[in-house]
Amino acid sequence: MLGPALLAASRSPRVRSLVSTSRVSRGLVDRFVAGESASDAVAAVRALTERGLAVTIDHLGEDTTERAQAEATRDAYTALLGRLSDEGLAGSAEVSLKLSALGQALSGGGSSFALENARVICAAARDAGTTVTLDMEDHTTVESTLAILRTLRADFPWVGAVVQSCLYRTEADVRDLAHPGSRVRLVKGAYREPRTVAHTSKAEVDSAYRRCLAVLFAQGAYPMVATHDQSMIEAATRLAAHHGRSGDDYELQMLYGIRTAEQERQVGMGRRVRVYLPYGSDWYGYFMRRLAERPANVAFFLRGLVSR
Ligand code: FDA
Repeated sequence: MLGPALLAASRSPRVRSLVSTSRVSRGLVDRFVAGESASDAVAAVRALTERGLAVTIDHLGEDTTERAQAEATRDAYTALLGRLSDEGLAGSAEVSLKLSALGQALSGGGSSFALENARVICAAARDAGTTVTLDMEDHTTVESTLAILRTLRADFPWVGAVVQSCLYRTEADVRDLAHPGSRVRLVKGAYREPRTVAHTSKAEVDSAYRRCLAVLFAQGAYPMVATHDQSMIEAATRLAAHHGRSGDDYELQMLYGIRTAEQERQVGMGRRVRVYLPYGSDWYGYFMRRLAERPANVAFFLRGLVSR
């Protein structure tokens, strides 16, 4: 129960201020976030690729409230893509975008504005020789995000989708998205959702994850199996063997700093593994979701706060 409570509390400005300014946060943030600057991100990408891992980079930021902020995020992505290309890293590093950081929630045409910003980033990714995946945020954004995905794919068919097995609607979305060539990242879902739209028990979310995986492999999509859950990883590798997929015909994905030994073990077995690498100064929302996923992380963090 700690996870949902923490996600709810994380919306409070007082909690935000306490967590953002605490020195205790810093140590744990460093475990999940690669640093604040593009140079930090590029250095982390280089270190990961030297160990045989692929990367998807997230410039941290979400819930943008001003157009200028969204444009700054767009420009940070295009500059980053230029650097990845210049440094010969674009072959193994793509980017992940949150449309809310590109202005999706702004009043008066936020969706179109986010679409145009995403289009600029996709063009920069194409020029750099890499790809883009659109993160999925809470359920209220799914319809708009999938509409933007469809529009972008008309010009950039390689744009990746993210779907969350916790949502009831996702199995139908997966059937629509799972065509050959379609890059689909399957996650369990990190947002606090009402039971009117989402499964609430881990068993139901896991069963839905397995059903979605089966559809992605069977219908010929390119599955991006984003989970740290060993039983889901094993389900994916069994499906890959069943459908005759080689190690580069699907990929496993995990978050930076989580189960790093397993990431390397999978690479050692010839599987493609991509690490989701966040960087930037706006780490609060991302960090709180990582804490909420694991009671041990919260306990460690709270012990640090009260012992100071
Ligand atoms: P589960 O939560 O059942 O955890 C399985 C095991 O993994 C745990 O027992 C523990 O060992 C380990 N683990 C999981 N989380 C941990 C943590 N924070 N710290 C330490 N250990 C942990 N969500 C979303 O809503 N939209 C999105 O766009 C994305 N994008 C995304 C990309 C990638 C590459 C990944 C891996 C994940 C996401 N997510 C996401 C997050 C996702 O929805 C989910 O919240 C987390 O991956 C945790 O779920 P698991 O599948 O790992 O299983």
